[in-house]
Amino acid sequence: MRLRAVLLAVTALQAESVIFSPADRSVVNGEVRVVARQEGRAELMVDGKVVAAESPHAGVLTAVLKLGPGGHEIAVEGGAKVKVHVGEGAPAGWLKFREHPPGATACTTCHAVKNGEWAFAKASLVGVCFACHDKAAFPKTHTHEAGIVPDCQLCHSPHGSAAAKHLKMTKEAACKLCHN
Ligand code: HEC
Ligand code: HEC
Ligand code: HEC
Ligand code: HEC
Repeated sequence: MRLRAVLLAVTALQAESVIFSPADRSVVNGEVRVVARQEGRAELMVDGKVVAAESPHAGVLTAVLKLGPGGHEIAVEGGAKVKVHVGEGAPAGWLKFREHPPGATACTTCHAVKNGEWAFAKASLVGVCFACHDKAAFPKTHTHEAGIVPDCQLCHSPHGSAAAKHLKMTKEAACKLCHN
């Protein structure tokens, strides 16, 4: 009984890992940046083997992987996993993953360690986003000023995605977060 309880506790912790980049079931270049959250001291695995990764802070895993043609599974040991494909022959419906920001801008553009936690560099990332994106064009695409919809990551995947405009949901669903 006791062992079972411990196993359940471990499983619950490991379920907290997330692979943000690359997206599950996407087509990637031979070189792909992994951005993941881990719990404990889990390793990064590719096709079942441990690979070298950096941990800029506890709970954070990142690496730039070089992958050969074909299908691969990227996993946080015992936790989250994504399937990707390099080159020709990807399963039908798999879309191309696009990294964001392109060109591997440093993690510290958006992140900082605060009170021992991997947190955000600024209380709000809006200014960081508009350092690269056109603020004047924002109300046209969003119906609102940035002040009304300030949590950009509510709707956009900040580390990249295979979705148009890096949207986490459809525009309709995004408006319904606040409107009936
Ligand atoms: C353009 C801004 C931006 C950049 C650059 C960025 N991140 Fe993030 N990151 C975010 C946002 C926003 C979130 C919140 C996740 C969400 O809501 O989807 C996040 C979440 C995370 C988390 C999860 C934190 C938690 O406690 O849940 C980790 C880990 C992480 N990022 C790692 C990285 C690493 C490593 C890099 C560099 C390779 C990086 N990020 C680059 C914006 C960024
Ligand atoms: C409520 C959801 C939501 C939030 C929050 C949100 N966006 Fe968007 N964003 C969208 C949608 C939906 C689109 C696509 C609009 C379209 O294609 O008509 C979009 C498009 C974009 C685009 C592409 C614009 C273009 O020229 O097509 C950028 C850049 C962008 N958003 C940046 C941001 C930034 C920066 C923030 C935070 C200040 C933010 N978004 C907050 C929903 C959101
Ligand atoms: C260092 C510069 C930089 C920062 C900081 C940055 N972006 Fe971007 N972003 C880019 C570039 C470059 C592109 C690619 C534009 C393209 O593909 O036409 C992009 C693409 C996007 C897109 C998709 C636009 C499209 O038309 O597909 C969205 C949405 C977006 N960024 C939102 C954000 C949000 C939200 C933040 C803040 C959390 C942010 N960006 C921070 C440089 C940046
Ligand atoms: C984060 C919450 C939030 C999201 C997401 C959001 N809105 Fe709003 N919206 C508001 C608030 C608050 C108001 C009232 C303040 C104002 O009018 O500026 C409003 C007002 C409006 C109005 C003016 C009419 C009215 O009901 O007062 C329209 C039209 C509108 N929103 C459309 C949209 C559309 C389209 C989207 C999706 C692209 C969207 N909203 C997403 C919060 C939101």
